[in-house]
Amino acid sequence: MSLLVIYDEKGYPLLTEKDYKAISQRLDKVGVLFERWRVKPVKGQEDILRAYHDEIQRINETFHFVSVDVASITPDHPKKEELRNMFLKEHTHSDFEVRFFVEGRGTFYLHLQDRVYAVVCEEGDLISVPSGTPHWFDMGKEPHFTAIRFFTIPEGWVANFTGSNISEVIPDHDSIVSSWLRS
Ligand SMILES: [Fe+2]
Repeated sequence: MSLLVIYDEKGYPLLTEKDYKAISQRLDKVGVLFERWRVKPVKGQEDILRAYHDEIQRINETFHFVSVDVASITPDHPKKEELRNMFLKEHTHSDFEVRFFVEGRGTFYLHLQDRVYAVVCEEGDLISVPSGTPHWFDMGKEPHFTAIRFFTIPEGWVANFTGSNISEVIPDHDSIVSSWLRS
C-alpha cells in the first residue's frame, strides 16, 4: 500500500489518497510520474539490476538516464541518523530524481505552490521528482529500504538547499506511517 497526503504549508492535511490509480492520477496532474512495477524477489545490486533490466531500460530511454545504482539502508546502519538528515531539508536538483523502491519504505515530500504532497513509497513504487521542484525525503528513524536510483550526470544530483524550514512543519515519515497504520 502506498499513500499520498496533501498538506497545506502549515502541515494541515487536506486530502489522503490510498488508491494507487488515484495517487498516480493526482501526481500526473502536477508533472510527477508515479508507477507501480511488479515486485521481484531479488537481493543484491547485481541481481536487482538484472531482474529489472527491461523496466530500467524503458525509464532510461524515456528520461535519458545514463547510469543507475542501488542504494540500501537498514536500521542497523551506524550512520542512519546522519543519512536521514542529509535529505530532510528542502532542496532542488537540476536533474530529475527518479527512484524505484525494490523493498522497504520512504516518504518523498514535493512542495508545489502552496501545497506539500507527501508520497509514502513502498516496494514496487517508482516516483520521479521533476528537476527544480523543491522537495525532501524522509526515511524515518529506523530506515529500511532498497531503491534503484537513476542518473543523467553525477553533478545533476547535487542538492541546492532552499533554506526553507517547511520540512519541520509537515508531519515526518514516522508520524504519517503510524497514523496510517492506526486508521
Ligand atoms: Fe532530492
